[in-house]
Amino acid sequence: MNWVLWNDRLVKDEDIKLSKEDRGYQFGDGIYEVIRIYNGNMFTAQEHIDRFYESADKIKIVIPYTKDLFHKMIYDLIEANEVTSGQVYVQITRGATPRLHHFPITPVETVLTAYTKEYKRPVTEMVNGVAVKTIEDIRWLRCDIKSLNLLGSVLAKQEAYENGCFEALLHRGDLITEGSSTNMYAIKDGVLYTHPATNLILNGITRRVILTCCEEIGLPVVEQPISLATVLSNDEFFLSSTTTEILPVTTINGIKVNKGIRGEWTHKLQIALEAKIGQEVHA
Ligand code: PDD
Repeated sequence: MNWVLWNDRLVKDEDIKLSKEDRGYQFGDGIYEVIRIYNGNMFTAQEHIDRFYESADKIKIVIPYTKDLFHKMIYDLIEANEVTSGQVYVQITRGATPRLHHFPITPVETVLTAYTKEYKRPVTEMVNGVAVKTIEDIRWLRCDIKSLNLLGSVLAKQEAYENGCFEALLHRGDLITEGSSTNMYAIKDGVLYTHPATNLILNGITRRVILTCCEEIGLPVVEQPISLATVLSNDEFFLSSTTTEILPVTTINGIKVNKGIRGEWTHKLQIALEAKIGQEVHA
């Protein structure tokens, strides 16, 4: 069950050999994706694959496989590991060369690695909600790229974690951008607000599905940044990602949102999302 993908080969975990001069390792010079597996199938596989190729393109990495072949490689990995509920993590780097900041003058082979992980849906948090801490967003200005450079996110998540919170609610001045590894949403007077898909956030695949769900359940959407100053005056607040799905945010900096319980619209969106992923509706 411990097969990994190393370029286009399925190998045992212990057989993978990576260079100390891999540019992903030294510079974070690469990109990644996390794709959810439900019942042995990838959810929104094509959207994740498209974003993987787009991220690569934005940093001028050429992926040496067609999208169809890449899809098959990932699928074969999931099948080999017999994953039913979990995720596949995949990354590609610009390759290994003597350390110089600029791209290799003589092109080298990119290095792709992928592996799977089993886990279940965070059902308790989906019902009870999670706590977040507001933290200044110090990341770079190309958050639309799913880059391996995650130090800004790592530091924010750590600060949230040290304060007993599940996630960092990132803001640039008064404007809320997203979470350290999630997208953020507020609902006020029957309207959903979320940061527009600009360079300041990752346009989550779950975010895109949620916006479709909003249309289906009749919840109007305004893609504009949420104000930090008035964040607690919102009726509901929630976050989303591939791994978390939709989690109600029930406290911000220790102060309750919606009396500390999951909001009605948030619950409706969870149900609409569950219908798409083919899961049973939780409590
Ligand atoms: N994180 N914003 C950021 C900064 C993210 O890192 C992620 C995903 C999202 C949500 O995107 P999606 O719905 O496509 O998962 C938003 C992944 C899960 C991670 O780094 O593990």
